[in-house]
Order: sequence, then structure tokens, then C-alpha cells
Amino acid sequence: MSTSSNVAPNDLSAFWMPFTANRQFKKSPRLFVAAKDMHYTTSDGRQVLDGTAGLWCVNAGHARPKIVEAIAKQAAELDYAPAFQMGHPKAFELANRIVDIAPDGLDHVLFTNSGSESVETALKVALAYQKVIGQGSRTRLIGRERGYHGVNFGGISVGGIVTNRKMFGTLLTGVDHLPHTHNLAKNAFSRGEPEHGADLADELERIVTLHDASTIAAVIVEPVAGSTGVLIPPPGYLKRLREITKKHGILLIFDEVITGYGRLGTPFGADYFGVVPDIMVTAKGLTNGVIPMGAVLVSAEIHDAFMTGPEHVIELFHGYTYSGNPIASAAGIATLETYKEEGLLTRGAELAKVWEDGLHSLKGEPHVIDIRNIGLVGAIELDPIAGQPTKRAFSAFLHAYENGLLIRTTGDIIALSPPLIVSESQIGEIVEGVRAALRSIA
Ligand SMILES: Cc1ncc(COP(=O)(O)O)c(C=O)c1O
Repeated sequence: MSTSSNVAPNDLSAFWMPFTANRQFKKSPRLFVAAKDMHYTTSDGRQVLDGTAGLWCVNAGHARPKIVEAIAKQAAELDYAPAFQMGHPKAFELANRIVDIAPDGLDHVLFTNSGSESVETALKVALAYQKVIGQGSRTRLIGRERGYHGVNFGGISVGGIVTNRKMFGTLLTGVDHLPHTHNLAKNAFSRGEPEHGADLADELERIVTLHDASTIAAVIVEPVAGSTGVLIPPPGYLKRLREITKKHGILLIFDEVITGYGRLGTPFGADYFGVVPDIMVTAKGLTNGVIPMGAVLVSAEIHDAFMTGPEHVIELFHGYTYSGNPIASAAGIATLETYKEEGLLTRGAELAKVWEDGLHSLKGEPHVIDIRNIGLVGAIELDPIAGQPTKRAFSAFLHAYENGLLIRTTGDIIALSPPLIVSESQIGEIVEGVRAALRSIA
């Protein structure tokens, strides 16, 4: 058995890494040992430009002083306070600050520790709300094909990525899925929102007809589907979902774990598309990725429905040991201050055109079958190698990493989402790094 004193520093076997090709990685490890602003430092001393904001989360760039200081100070001052039946000021302060930047109508915050937990929280609140208002027959949840809502059972049930679902049993019952909106034949190489497919929102009417509205609690979608490879909704699609859900008394949940906190050039995706959901799921950028934390925003209507009955009784039997953890709260406050001071929640809009032009200059490069962009997110879809899906994009990832650029791949799609502090010349570096990778791989 290994103990901390006898594990060799280069023994990589104990850690079963998440969403990683473990055997490939451990034969040829890629280790970061430091990070500052737009760059990582590797264990062999190289600088790597961060084209992905870590995992779509380091929106203000790395090791930002205000956030670093806030965490250190909070750890020394109040490290932990019980989350149940006790509180501490910073969790309330952070909740208020989130509400301040959120779309009007989302007035209350439940804290979690990740995007996955935020999704579970949102789904549970939706079900409980329907019960509390006397609509207990509404137990169905509707997700979308290719949706990603984290890795817990609720999230993979409403999610629509087959590899994340097929190994894990029957999942939640009573779940149905909208079709995804990706259409290469009609929309390839669209700039921003693709023209075709708004009518796919009407599939919700078909699902309502099939199951009856009285059985459906909520619909959950990502405003822009991120992890599956950046699928951008056609104009009007989300508005239509809002209309249909409202008409049938179904709650609309936006999973803004990626689109939240400035990624699209607006504070939230809801702002970008002008559609306010009943519940909004966030995480990642809330603390700049530095400390695990998520926040679920709900409307006053939902919150207030629970605030009945004797006052000494707990209103919602849900929460985590670390909900609103003091250090995470301090990190969240410092992160939101950094975003505000530097205008980062809208900086994506200023850079969007340069980003779009840069990405679309890759049209015609080897293997490229589609390019998509919105705000400071982009995707380059590659033609898969016959019989070896994912291999081509993974080769591009390795080539880019070896040449000083971090990109992300999902299937045969390269996804890009740099920190919102990226400069125009660094956008150029990202584009040229991808170009070089595409020209080098088989
Ligand atoms: C839309 C969406 N929801 C949920 C999650 C899960 O977040 P986490 O990995 O923090 O659990 C992610 C992560 O990428 C996401 O993109």
C-alpha cells in the first residue's frame, strides 16, 4: 500500500483521472505547475496559452490578485461555518451580488459546489415547486439531445450525450428529450446564430401532446450547448421555448454553467437571447474556477411558494455541507468585483467580431467541415477519420499543446473559449495555433 511518504513524485497510477484517456496520459503526461493571466506553465517549463479558460471557467484569467487575496484572507478569518441553520455574511453578500447582475425576475440564490450539483438542485426545486403549488402530477423532466448537464443522475438523465449515459443503468424515469438543433447540411459555417431550425422548438408541443402538460414539471436546456461542441440556437428558438413552457405551466430552466458570467458578451445567455427562464443554473465562472462553487437562481414566485407553514420548519429539504462556503463566497465576491472593474461581463461583445473573423479564417483548412461562433466561444468541427471517431481532434489537441496552445476537444470538434481578458493578438495566436495543428495532423 502506498503512503504519502513512499509515493514517488512521478507515480501517476493512484489518481484515476476524470474524463481522461488515463493510459495515454500516464504514458505521456501533460502537467501544469503554474498559471498567470492568459498562460499556464508546464512541468517542463513551457508557456501554454489558455484557449479554453481552463474548463470554460477561468473567465478573468489566472491568479488574479484580488481573488487570491480574498481567499487567503477568508481562510485565516473564518474558514468554515455550518451551512444548515447557521450563516455567515459573505454568502448573503454574494447572493445579493449575483442577483444584481442577473436578469430581472431571478431574485433568490441556492448555493452548490459545482455545475452538476446546480443541475440536480434546479431539477429538485422544479419538482418540489410543482408539488407545493398543488401540481404534484407534474413529475416529468424534459431535456435535449446532445445536452450536457453534468454527471450526476439527474443531469445525465436529462442530458443527451450517449457516452455519458449508456453505462449507467436506467437513469431517472419520466424523462423525454427535445431534438438538438445542429444541422450541418443547412447551417454549416454560419456566423453567430444559424439561420435554420427555430421550428425545432415546436417539438416541445409534440412532447406535450404525447405526455400531457399536466405531467411535465420542467424543461432544461443550455442556451448554447457547450460541452457537446458549441451548438448555437437559431434566432427565435429560445423565445419559442419560453412561450410554449409558459403556455403549459412548465418551468423553463437555463443551464448557464458555460454561458453565464460573460461568455457570450453579456452577463448571462438569458441577456443575450432576451429570454428569462424560471430557474438559472450557474457555476464555473462564478468563482473564476478557483474554488468549486455553483449558484442556482430562482424567481420570487418559486421561492415564495415555499415560504408557508410554521416558521420553525425547514422549507426545502436540500443543501450541501459546503453550500455558500465562506472561502468560496469570498472568492465569488472578488471574482464578481474583478469582472465589474475590468468590464469583463461585456468584453466578449467587443471582441466578438475579431474572434469571429479569426475563427472563420480557418475555413478551407484541412478536415474542417464547420465553424461556429458566438460571443467568445467557438467551435471547429472536423471530418472524423473513418472508423476512428475522436482521433483526429485529439491529435490536433496534442499538437497544439506541444506547440504552446491549450484547446479542448469533444468528439471531433475543437471548442475554444479563452479567458475574457484575451487580447486581439492572443486571439490571432489561438487561430494560428489551430491552423498549424490542422495542417500537421493526418
Ligand atoms: C452546461 C453545463 N452544465 C453542467 C456542467 C457540470 O459542471 P461541473 O463539471 O462543475 O459539475 C457543465 C460542465 O461543463 C456544463 O457545461
